Amino acid sequence: MEILDSIDRNKLPRHIAIIMDGNGRWARERGEDRVYGHYEGVISVREIVNACGEIGIEYLTLYAFSAENWNRPKQEVDALMELLVNTIRKEIEDLKKNNVKLHIIGDFESLPAICQKELNEAKEITAHNTGLNLILALSYSSRQEIVEATRKIAEKVAAGTMKPEDIGFETFEQHLYTSAFPDPELMIRTSGEYRISNYLLYQLAYAELYFTNVHWPDFRKNNLIEALLNYQQRERRFGKTSEQIQTNTPQHA
Ligand code: IPE
Ligand code: IPE
Ligand code: MG
Repeated sequence: MEILDSIDRNKLPRHIAIIMDGNGRWARERGEDRVYGHYEGVISVREIVNACGEIGIEYLTLYAFSAENWNRPKQEVDALMELLVNTIRKEIEDLKKNNVKLHIIGDFESLPAICQKELNEAKEITAHNTGLNLILALSYSSRQEIVEATRKIAEKVAAGTMKPEDIGFETFEQHLYTSAFPDPELMIRTSGEYRISNYLLYQLAYAELYFTNVHWPDFRKNNLIEALLNYQQRERRFGKTSEQIQTNTPQHA
């Protein structure tokens, strides 16, 4: 029996969010430049995207570059931006063929013009796909996202097009970058760091968190399946008691 068969198809998360961490350390452990780890990390991205499509996950958000990552040495930032452009160029045909729809969240305008162009084209090419929604978090800061949402709402209130009493969870969520996506039920971080690093702070409110020591370039389909099996053993209580959950069945619905 393939390990894939042990997954309960009725208990899948709709949305998985991943912090792809550990590329630099993976490379340094091999006596290589950090950038080598980023190159190898792309192979994991390809495999995890394909696996999610195959398993039937609807949304996959990948933290590819944080707003804070701009503070890394210029040589590494440049290499990452170049890798982004080259990867999109190389993968676009497969994304199209595999019915993957590409989305971007983050401060899009802060990306180099060439990245913006390539990403816009890729978004257009995959716009009518109906399979996996692949959401890349680029130049992403969750605090920035929350502040921006607040500002947009404040502007509407000041202009008289929205009333303060109309602001609820739903209105607020409509102003986040992620307005079109459900909240992730599962968040995975690789490479043994136990932190959120300014990722989806609002959206992860009730996500199950899964941490593994495996560095991102070593994280492959079997590691994803392991994370899913672990997720499926969790009892998601949302503030209720275990007894309540067990009598009111579909907890993953
Ligand atoms: C994740 O790996 C990729 C990015 C943040 C772009 P790192 O580059 O953070 O690798 P480590 O954590 O330094 O090993
Ligand atoms: C988070 O990883 C960002 C990405 C994976 C893109 P970092 O490696 O930048 O996070 P910290 O700085 O260790 O928290
Ligand atoms: Mg890191």
